[in-house]
Amino acid sequence: MFGRITDYKVNNQIVEIKFEKRSGQVEIINESIVNIFAALETQEHRSKAIENFQKKQVSYHVEREEDCIVITTSKVTVKVYDEFKVDFYDKDGKVLCKDYRGRRQRGIVLTEEDAELMAGEGHEVEDAPEDYSIQILKELEGDEAFYALGDKTGFLNKRNYVYEMWNTDNPAPQVDSFKALYKSIPFFITLKKDSVYGIFFDNTYRSYFDMGKESSKYYYFGCDNGNLDYYFIAGDKMTDIVTGYTYLTGTVPVPQLWTLGHHQSRWGYKSEKEVRQIAKKFRDNDIPCDTIHLDIDYMDEFKVFTWNKERYEDPKKMIGDLKKDGFKIVTIIDPGVKLQEGYHIYDEGVEKGCFATTPEGEIYVNAVWPGDSVYPDFGKPEVRSWWANNQRYLLDMGVRGVWNDMNEPASFRGELPQDVVFYDEELRATHSKMHNVYGHLMSKATYEGLKENDKKRPFVITRACYSGSQKYSTAWTGDNHSIWAHLQMAIPQLCNLGLSGMSYVGTDVGGFGSDTTPELLARWVQVGCFSPLFRNHSCMGTIRQEPWQFGEEIMNIYRKYVQLRYELLPYFYDLFFKGETTGLPVMRPLILHYEKDQNLRDRNDEFLLGENILVAPVVNQGDTQKLIYLPEGLWIDYWTKEEKKGGSYYVKEAPLDVCPIYIKAGSIIPNYPKQSYVGDKEIDTLILDIYLGEGKYKHYQDDGESFDYKDGKYNEYLFTINSEGIFTAELPNKGYEKEYKGFVLKYNNTEKYVEFNGDKLTVKLV
Ligand code: GLC
Repeated sequence: MFGRITDYKVNNQIVEIKFEKRSGQVEIINESIVNIFAALETQEHRSKAIENFQKKQVSYHVEREEDCIVITTSKVTVKVYDEFKVDFYDKDGKVLCKDYRGRRQRGIVLTEEDAELMAGEGHEVEDAPEDYSIQILKELEGDEAFYALGDKTGFLNKRNYVYEMWNTDNPAPQVDSFKALYKSIPFFITLKKDSVYGIFFDNTYRSYFDMGKESSKYYYFGCDNGNLDYYFIAGDKMTDIVTGYTYLTGTVPVPQLWTLGHHQSRWGYKSEKEVRQIAKKFRDNDIPCDTIHLDIDYMDEFKVFTWNKERYEDPKKMIGDLKKDGFKIVTIIDPGVKLQEGYHIYDEGVEKGCFATTPEGEIYVNAVWPGDSVYPDFGKPEVRSWWANNQRYLLDMGVRGVWNDMNEPASFRGELPQDVVFYDEELRATHSKMHNVYGHLMSKATYEGLKENDKKRPFVITRACYSGSQKYSTAWTGDNHSIWAHLQMAIPQLCNLGLSGMSYVGTDVGGFGSDTTPELLARWVQVGCFSPLFRNHSCMGTIRQEPWQFGEEIMNIYRKYVQLRYELLPYFYDLFFKGETTGLPVMRPLILHYEKDQNLRDRNDEFLLGENILVAPVVNQGDTQKLIYLPEGLWIDYWTKEEKKGGSYYVKEAPLDVCPIYIKAGSIIPNYPKQSYVGDKEIDTLILDIYLGEGKYKHYQDDGESFDYKDGKYNEYLFTINSEGIFTAELPNKGYEKEYKGFVLKYNNTEKYVEFNGDKLTVKLV
């Protein structure tokens, strides 16, 4: 495809290489990240993921060797050979990743007869894939594990599986063999015994990833369109790779504090009366809750930006009344616009040319909830602004967040043809190019509309994503089912999303489709309360699963874990604060921090919150004990305060009301007092749950909703504990007027209140 290297030149960190047949380039993004690019479709990068990006000026060296061009930074060496084969080495010259020089060995190809036979019973008939026009084969050394890749089904380690990036709405129970779900995040991390790297294949067309199924000699990613455009991310440790990827595609901005509370949803709460009753039940039963979500039922004939006034007599008043009781309302908005003359959104959209068209220029029609529907073309900047402005309707009603669904985009009358015209900014493009970024661009429009009109940090939830969506939106994992397999899957799925930059994510707690059981709900809340986005949601026609639906025992368990979430809110908030800079997720697989520990490569049923809290939920029906693995170090059982040495397995008693939790020795965990909702109490004292040992912890305090923190209007506290049991508190950044007056120090079954005046405070605990 490329031929032999004939020449090269260097300009502003770009090494342009001339091959016999075409050119390619290697661009140095920073010391650890390089981009490999060949203009097969457009001359320039047209990234949807990487925006407003300034590459860092670094020193580097380029040299022509006999058979290759060698490009070296302080962290990585890239060697480019004929045919644009590329090898990567670390700073010590150790191989990180090499292009595979052989050809692909296609796997199983069925005879026509066998294919027919199988199809007879309804089996999916699939041949081993052919070559793709862009196809990058990388050598496998044998010990590689693969992580990230967005919201794929199955377990944490993606080794030996194949996936596709094609945003897919399929509400059937999603199992390990599914190749694609709602989100396309073409980024993965390769972990080897003694090294790690990441690759981000920035191509929005349908793309394919084979992580070692076809061959034990190579893995590959490929695509039939677009540019050859991928980033190689080197790093000393796995966290560097996540930080590198989010350096490119952006980090999750700090959310409004209330969004970290507990959310309740169901398809559908069909009337104002029902919504008010649900809210009252939370308060009557003393179960903290901040947010109620309104699914499609609140709209008039499922028309976006309308309200059904028969079901909701006075939505503004309802939202206002609920607000007095601490509730916020989030409403769903789908992209499909009902085709109906006289409906203002449809009329306006037609007039302004907002909808996707057939190649011949007719508005393209498919169907979603409202029946015949048309699709806003979010690839056009003017459509995004139009959509952004429409958010005003919701904000004027008092709505506090917007839930974007069906934005793969979903379509009830078969998939949109590949040639439906969608724009890529000013360029006429196709559905095949814009499909995977449709949800991304919709969330961006929603984010911008909320930001502009509300001035607060926007709260957007989306189902479909592309790389970089984390800058605009939180996400949930779509239509899971109330089955144990999906509770189990929730952990690796959320962890891999976190490694893929999408840190603010959650699953439908209790499960969406199918009927939950009391036990499953009790176990699910024990995962849900630690998920960054904590929302109970279920499908119409399924058994109800609000916390009180199964009687006192289950409700008490539910309450216990929701309360724990509210106590831990400052810890979650701190993780988001730190994550905006580092890109590190809130919910993490253990392997992220203990990558040398072989026991953790496939650890699917435990996770970390930050670095300090390890959660090991029970995810099997009937289990009342759990086999736990603790990584190196000293860990303390959250419930019994027993000390456990890491590097070992333990059996923990875990009756239905116990979710095993361990805290790392030397942790200082900030807690809020019990509240029914965020802001229920004025918090002028911070509780610090101290686990003796050596450690330090940074805590952030600000108004919890505006963008003021960007101008330094926040307080940063630094707490330390040393091996002699001496605790200190300092305030290295004072930017927010409401400082804590003191701290309640909790340690070794003791509680001690200490005043704080902003000066360094030292307390001898033991
Ligand atoms: C889709 C969503 C689900 C929602 C339903 C109705 O299935 O994934 O969350 O409740 O549509 O809007």
